Amino acid sequence: MKVVRLLASASIALASNLQIPLDSSSAPPSYRSELVSLHKSLVEISSVTYTENAVGNFLVKYLTERGFVAEIEFLPPPDHVALDDDLGDRKPRFNVLAWPGPKHHPAPTVLVTSHIDTVPPHIPYSRSDDEPNGDTVIAGRGSVDAKGSVAAQIMAVSELVREKKINPEDVMLLFVVGEERTGDGMRYFSDTISELDPPPNLKAAIFGEPTEGKLACGHKGYFGCTITAHGKAGHSGYPWLGKSATETLIRGVVKVLDADLGSSEKFGNTTINVGIIEGGVASNVIPEKAVARIAGRVAIGPEESGGAIVVERVRRVLKGMDEDAFEIECVNGYGVVECACDVPGFDTATMNYGTDVHNLAGDHKRYLYGPGSIFVAHGADEAIKLKDLEQGVEGFKKIILHALADEAGEL
Ligand SMILES: *[C@@H]1O[C@H](CO)[C@@H](O)[C@H](O)[C@H]1NC(C)=O
Repeated sequence: MKVVRLLASASIALASNLQIPLDSSSAPPSYRSELVSLHKSLVEISSVTYTENAVGNFLVKYLTERGFVAEIEFLPPPDHVALDDDLGDRKPRFNVLAWPGPKHHPAPTVLVTSHIDTVPPHIPYSRSDDEPNGDTVIAGRGSVDAKGSVAAQIMAVSELVREKKINPEDVMLLFVVGEERTGDGMRYFSDTISELDPPPNLKAAIFGEPTEGKLACGHKGYFGCTITAHGKAGHSGYPWLGKSATETLIRGVVKVLDADLGSSEKFGNTTINVGIIEGGVASNVIPEKAVARIAGRVAIGPEESGGAIVVERVRRVLKGMDEDAFEIECVNGYGVVECACDVPGFDTATMNYGTDVHNLAGDHKRYLYGPGSIFVAHGADEAIKLKDLEQGVEGFKKIILHALADEAGEL
């Protein structure tokens, strides 16, 4: 596979009008207005998955104007598109790769990455400065997931370069498309990383997703199944002459819900969401067919096969109840994803959602962190406090410095 790359722009000197941050915790950081303005631009541009072109173009322009070298990496047209996916304008989709300038193509050891697509629908940007406790709250789609991380990561790298705390050549930024659907952006980057010239020799990758400012020690795995129950139609007055597909399905799904599908001390129980259930044609007809779509959050490993292990248990539960009635189609997904949470000064936690972490192959250390809460992330009220966004910049700075020191054997 040949990567199509385009040198977006040569580097420009880092903006020089930034000031040294004050040490007082009450003083706003010197980068506040730059951070707010970057975050605002990102959130204002709609970038629901498959329509990330405009936000990608914005990022390239923004980064190259501020001393980064940026490249774009075009993705092939998406496969496996679900029926309800809106392919929008069908403009080219691309990942944005960036290096703090001035050199083009250094061989960085630490990757700082997040995603630029969002879930639908787009929700306009708004800002409220009159919260009861004096907080500024910024709302809009992606304000948390994950444009809060994107803005905080760019600011963190810019600040570390400006403060001369890192060698610019050691760090690389990557903003991918498609995380909210299939992870095709990160998978494409991963598949073609060896074609970068020279290829990065990644020792650590820092993934930005909302963790409420906690350092994630890992997250649950995932799988999905479509379960179809087949019955035999007939008059509802004579149920023994037919076989009810809905009844079979309901009993089967309840058995799956009640089954022990695997648990671990670190990640808790594997959980099942019965997202869709449908079947039958009329209340007085024994239903011939019923379908359930379930998604599981996997609490066991290994990463490669933990999802398949749980899928096998689901199959066994259903087949054990009725050998012939069920047709089960599954995406095996993956098991628990372990992340490093060894950076001092953070609260730690595990997450119950999926990320791009497992889509990047390699034996690099993996960190997962970001400002804002997952509990508002896909909702109508998605919003982030300015102070949390700023805390995110400081958090990313700490993790980047830790990863670099770790890699250099300085810890
Ligand atoms: C996990 O499942 C077990 C048994 O089904 C239950 O007793 C326990 O409370 C669950 N744990 C959590 C953290 O939900």
